[in-house]
Amino acid sequence: MNIGFVGAGAMGSLMAANLMRAGHALSVHTRTRQKADGLLAQGARWAESPAAAAAWADCFVTMVGGPQDVEAIYFGGALDQARPGALLVDMSTSSPKLAERVHAAAKSRGLAAFDAPVTGGPQGAATASLIIMVGGDRAEFERARPVLAALGSSVLYFGGPGNGQRAKLVNQVVVMQNILSAIEGLFLARKSALDPEAVLQMLQNGLADSKSLRGAAVRALKGDFAPNFDPRHVVKDLSLAIEEADSLGLDLPGLKNARARWQELVRRFPGARAVQEVARLYA
Ligand SMILES: NC(=O)c1ccc[n+]([C@@H]2O[C@H](COP(=O)([O-])OP(=O)(O)OC[C@H]3O[C@@H](n4cnc5c(N)ncnc54)[C@H](OP(=O)(O)O)[C@@H]3O)[C@@H](O)[C@H]2O)c1
Repeated sequence: MNIGFVGAGAMGSLMAANLMRAGHALSVHTRTRQKADGLLAQGARWAESPAAAAAWADCFVTMVGGPQDVEAIYFGGALDQARPGALLVDMSTSSPKLAERVHAAAKSRGLAAFDAPVTGGPQGAATASLIIMVGGDRAEFERARPVLAALGSSVLYFGGPGNGQRAKLVNQVVVMQNILSAIEGLFLARKSALDPEAVLQMLQNGLADSKSLRGAAVRALKGDFAPNFDPRHVVKDLSLAIEEADSLGLDLPGLKNARARWQELVRRFPGARAVQEVARLYA
């Protein structure tokens, strides 16, 4: 398949490489061109714009920052330039309502659009073991599945347009509060002069155990802040989740508190590029 790919960032560069590894031809566009150098060296062709990538593609994939980028790409030319019958797959974490708008605009042009955000981070992207949450038309989903299967170990269909994003936002509500609670617990242990290793073992053997406790929180304790997930994207995701909950008349105070913590991180440490750097607020 000819795949047009937009967004060669922390996740997209690894995912696009997996699509080529699976035998697809790739045309890539990304805002900062040198971020595509690795993909071009592996045989991808450069597209001068997202619309140019869409015009060439049987399947057009976006992995950009958030709703503003998604809106600019789809309504700024990609929808108009896409080939008849093409698949459009937005894998960024974005707004469910925007996904519905893209889907409707696509359908009216004879195109099949999906929202297919992911979880698993750069490690999952590198090893093609992402969990992918899909929203869109069931009848068209089987056409998109082989492309998605080259990127993840689990491709989950959640229903109509926007439902992939809704499932992803639920994931973020749980994961980010989980990371925050693990970090707060471990930094309380450290401040109390408890042996952090002993506390960690106790937590991991009890009800508190979680992947966050074994991953992000441990890295935070060690001061390992290698870039993985931009804290500005965390604020974006939690804001989208709050917006979605508000639109349903649901108040989620724990979620608002978590967002305030990452907002504070972004304000005080604008260079932060790892999710667990929220621990800096507790040092
Ligand atoms: N990192 C993670 O662990 C993770 C996990 C799951 C989901 N996500 C989600 O996946 C998406 C991508 O994450 P990421 O970590 O790869 O983010 P990222 O490193 O910020 O990458 C996004 C890329 O998209 C490019 N871009 C943005 N708007 C564009 C446009 N209009 N045209 C062309 N390129 C554009 C950016 O260009 P510049 O380089 O010029 O900024 C950047 O390279 C986000 O929605 C994020 O929330 C991330």
